[in-house]
Amino acid sequence: SEIYLQGMSGVVPAFTNDPTALESSARELMEPGPYWYVAGGAGSGATVRANREAFDRRRIVPRMLTDATERDVSTTVLGTELAAPVLLAPIGVQSIVHPDGELATARAAAELGIPMILSTASSHTIEEVAEASGDGERWYQLYWPNSDDVTVSVLERAERAGYTALVVTLDTWTLAWRPHDLDQSYLPFIRGIGTAIPFSDPAFRASLERTPEEDRNSAVLRWVQMFTGVDKSWERLAFLREHWSGPIAVKGVLHPDDARRAVDAGMDGIVVSNHGGRQVDGSVAALDALPGIAEAVGDRVDVLFDSGVRTGADVIKAIALGAKAVLLGRPWVYGLAHGGQEGVRHVLRGLLADLDLTLGLTGNRSLADLGRHTLMENS
Ligand code: FNR
Repeated sequence: SEIYLQGMSGVVPAFTNDPTALESSARELMEPGPYWYVAGGAGSGATVRANREAFDRRRIVPRMLTDATERDVSTTVLGTELAAPVLLAPIGVQSIVHPDGELATARAAAELGIPMILSTASSHTIEEVAEASGDGERWYQLYWPNSDDVTVSVLERAERAGYTALVVTLDTWTLAWRPHDLDQSYLPFIRGIGTAIPFSDPAFRASLERTPEEDRNSAVLRWVQMFTGVDKSWERLAFLREHWSGPIAVKGVLHPDDARRAVDAGMDGIVVSNHGGRQVDGSVAALDALPGIAEAVGDRVDVLFDSGVRTGADVIKAIALGAKAVLLGRPWVYGLAHGGQEGVRHVLRGLLADLDLTLGLTGNRSLADLGRHTLMENS
């Protein structure tokens, strides 16, 4: 209603609320390198498309006269109380999209009470982003370094700076074949690493022969190598457990047996995700993997979901299939490109309003009302 009322006095939103048009309009204003880094997927893009097709194949069956005028979309995930079942997915190197990068995102997220998950590949330091987020809820995402010293240093810094939960990404122990980035020889990490880890982490600096100030490119390349070809195992998760006192979720799980292994390894949550189709071309759509994983472990740990969420209806579909909350990726990154903090805020407010309205119009008052009965699957 705020948008319509402003419209009556001639003020219209600075950019579109339509998720498909949002991507096209971002394309017009972004340089090709950053745009394709954000929009692109692995290989032929089959998994990016499959993620959307999996949402389109499922339709909500609205129910009538249920008195859904008062609604509540709150939930609790990994001990964090959420006003809505939405978190910001970890997105690296945000300064390639907007100079304020993660600082703008943190401020917008804090304003709306949405937790931000800060990427290990952030353009700004753990501490700078914590300060920008103020009282806002913040989680930390770990790309697991192949140095225990760096791992411990980063985790300690994150805990000290008030990040409450840890999300360990398992699916990106090396970067996938991404033709768009290859075609342009575009290495976002060289461009977008800003002041982050190579420059700020004492354990990482200690591992270098020459300081990042003396040789920036070598430092960044060394930093990228730190996350490549990492030899890890389910058993090694115990090491992270030892060095992180809050809840831990693993991100990038697509098979129920892996979800069970994560639970056996003492994890508190699973993020069902195919990294937005950016890692394994031809991988199963994340939404198709969700019900089996929720069935396997949903009663023991919190199951979160990402990859392909664009609208309020999508959030409802993911919750109906067993997710407790969703992580949102590319849409708010396009908002960041359009207008920094204000742009992220605009996209997120739109999604939250859409979710609330759609929940009501489908005849539901709370997330607990949703389940398999909410959906019909088209072939
Ligand atoms: C990502 N993603 C990601 N994941 C992660 O764990 N650490 C990271 O640093 C990044 N960086 C990143 C950059 C960009 C530009 C994108 C688009 C994605 C994956 C992200 O967290 C999430 O899994 C997907 O973005 C979800 O898919 P949608 O919502 O973008 O379709």
